[in-house]
Amino acid sequence: MLEIAQKVHDETRQGEAFAPFAVDANKYQRYFYIESYGCQMNFSDSEIVASILNEEGFGATRNYEEADLIFLNTCSIREKAELTVRKRLTEFKKLKRSNPSLLVGVLGCMAERLKAKFLEEEKLVDIVVGPDAYRALPQLIEEADGGQKAINVLLSREETYADISPVRLNSNGITAFVSIMRGCNNMCSFCVVPFTRGRERSRNAESILAECRDLYAQGYKEVTLLGQNVDSYYFVPEADGKPVTFALLLELVALIAPDLRVRFSTSHPKDITDDVLATMARYENICRYIHLPLQSGSTRVLGMMNRNYSREWYKAKVDRIREYMPDCGISSDIIAGFCTETEADHQDTLDLMRFARYDMSYMFFYSERPGTLAQRRYPDDVPEPVKKRRLQEIVALQNELSAESNRRDIGKTFKVLIEGNSKRSDEDWMGRNSQNKVIVFPKGAHQLKPGDYVQVQVESSTQATLLGAIVSMG
Ligand code: 5AD
Ligand code: SF4
Repeated sequence: MLEIAQKVHDETRQGEAFAPFAVDANKYQRYFYIESYGCQMNFSDSEIVASILNEEGFGATRNYEEADLIFLNTCSIREKAELTVRKRLTEFKKLKRSNPSLLVGVLGCMAERLKAKFLEEEKLVDIVVGPDAYRALPQLIEEADGGQKAINVLLSREETYADISPVRLNSNGITAFVSIMRGCNNMCSFCVVPFTRGRERSRNAESILAECRDLYAQGYKEVTLLGQNVDSYYFVPEADGKPVTFALLLELVALIAPDLRVRFSTSHPKDITDDVLATMARYENICRYIHLPLQSGSTRVLGMMNRNYSREWYKAKVDRIREYMPDCGISSDIIAGFCTETEADHQDTLDLMRFARYDMSYMFFYSERPGTLAQRRYPDDVPEPVKKRRLQEIVALQNELSAESNRRDIGKTFKVLIEGNSKRSDEDWMGRNSQNKVIVFPKGAHQLKPGDYVQVQVESSTQATLLGAIVSMG
């Protein structure tokens, strides 16, 4: 079960280290190694950190044994995520003994949550930096070089790193993530994010567009706009004072080029508007896929979670999405065993999952986080075996729903963006359709390359993947 709980967001990537800059012939005096955990936002932040460090004359390495600086960009969302990082840190102890000038830094949400406690508890940590303080890194490194412990965990109301171009490391050169806002104002009672990432703020629209245009010019074919709650994106440019909403931002990005795909994550069911749905329906290059976390199917539990919608409201949203886009893929996040959850509440969740026919879900059991509203207000009273049994039932149902969803696609033809070779064979391409499903198909005699679009007919499916064959180009 822990295996499942560990599957945070896109999650083969947990603990992934960045590759050295792809075309970087420079020799550097010092090298950094960075490993990322948690959500897409954190992976995106690591690219900003890489950019700041590179500007300071540090090179990236994928081999931590040759690094002068080791950074872990950490996640606090569940206890398990923090335990993984703590375990990883102890592995660096030996290294530090043999190389006393090695600096170890903790970045991200755990740094923000634990602050100076980190320096006391984990004797090997030299630098602690919260998500809004990455610009201070060069100065903090200098302090740490001088033998001091260095810390900056100030949260900001303004910082969006708008002017910093992220260094794309480990990229396939085809798909990229673009951060459009930071922080979160929702205060879901189970969630540590408002405390670790601070108040919500939207990034300058023009800098987002410039980054997307630049990616397209470099050959990228897909951008995913990232934020904890993208629907509340709101930016007023000084030049004309005309507000840019999320719907407008989506449209502006979609207009960059018809063959640049646009995705976004994450939506909040209470905030996603008809305007956004209408914009999605209007542009073929805005992908028909919405990640719409449910969390619980019980109105009573949703109230305690401070989600600000009811079961009926959520169902109406799903209906609305399908009215605008009958072929839209929908996925979810679900928490099993939140405080006071009864068997009837759990059944409500299963029932709503069937109603929404999710193509995919990330599923977790509730993990109480210190300092959150739920921890202060409610007892974590669902026994662990019950949480795990309910989670298992949720996972089993989702497996059925995913298999059914894939079976419904057999015989259909989709436009697929080729991302690279399939994991299993160099003879096959791997790509995604608009609904974000992975499709694997033989390369055949066609002269195609990553970044090309191709029409693929689905012939069969496994639980997670569609298998097909090329029917035509573009
Ligand atoms: N326990 C379990 N799952 C959680 N999530 C957030 N906080 C917790 C918690 N305390 C889940 C939610 C969220 C996803 C990113 O992680 O489902 O949408
Ligand atoms: Fe983890 Fe949340 Fe921080 Fe992302 S924002 S790294 S999921 S705690």
